[in-house]
Amino acid sequence: MRVSVIGGGLMGSGISEVCARAGLDVTVIESDDEHAEAAQARIERSLERGRRAGKIDDADAKAASGRIAYSATLDDAAGSDAAIEAIIEYEPAKRDVFRELDRLLPDAEFLASNTSSVPIMKLAAETSRPERVLGMHFFNPVPVLTLVELVRSIMTSEQTVERARGFAEQTLGKSCIDSQDRAGFVVNALLIPYLLSAIRMYESGFASREDIDKGMVLGCAHPMGPLALADLIGLDTLQAVAVSLYEEFRDPAAVAPAVLNRMVEAGLLGRKSGRGFYDYSN
Ligand code: NAI
Repeated sequence: MRVSVIGGGLMGSGISEVCARAGLDVTVIESDDEHAEAAQARIERSLERGRRAGKIDDADAKAASGRIAYSATLDDAAGSDAAIEAIIEYEPAKRDVFRELDRLLPDAEFLASNTSSVPIMKLAAETSRPERVLGMHFFNPVPVLTLVELVRSIMTSEQTVERARGFAEQTLGKSCIDSQDRAGFVVNALLIPYLLSAIRMYESGFASREDIDKGMVLGCAHPMGPLALADLIGLDTLQAVAVSLYEEFRDPAAVAPAVLNRMVEAGLLGRKSGRGFYDYSN
């Protein structure tokens, strides 16, 4: 089976790695050569980390790496058996990708988006086969976290959902939950207002960032605090999901705090840019 993964950033590279490690041929499509090279470097680094940690042996890491092709041309997705889109959280760009995937992959088993917040129906509406379009929402880091939310639009067929479930569970070894096509799906509808509350608490000076994070780690046994998690997710992604949640539900708990907006404008995007609520330059 050959899968095309559109977008090789944080999520796309994780999804590509997991697919290649499961024995699938993968084509990673990026926006230009420079980003395609960055995607390759990210995947190679992650495979190397897995090898050093003893989670994958030398031969399997080499084989996985050899199954991944990189391209800066969406046309190279043609002929794939399925596609998973993981480009930036920007609806017009995602719609363009789905219009093109519909043209390039008439026989694909499913066309999936890893979007955190764009309604799947808006992407499906760009295609001539909305019954084959669904959300497959992976979690970061993809090689570590096993959850995939399967999101059906009002047009997604049962067959498509079951094919995607089989792919995620049997082929990739993930665990699925089902969600309706509402902003945030299950996990982000609960998580994002919580992260935004922590940012508001920090912004108001109510507690230090370290104490907010320590409170949730030691008090609630969370593996990391909300500000560290916001940095891991990426502050631009968090902001985009907050905007979508607010547009859908008009709940003040989903309004992005001003400090988050300013940080995104400043390019302080969290771990991926080297600085967010914490400094990662070392
Ligand atoms: P990212 O910013 O790390 O990666 C996005 C990549 O898409 C970049 O490498 C960019 O060059 C590429 N790209 C942009 N336009 C493109 C195009 N037209 N064709 C091909 N590539 C293009 O973002 P990240 O975090 O990987 O997010 C990707 C998607 O996954 C978003 O929809 C996000 O909401 C979703 N997501 C993010 C999670 C996270 O924790 N960061 C978790 C689950 C879903």
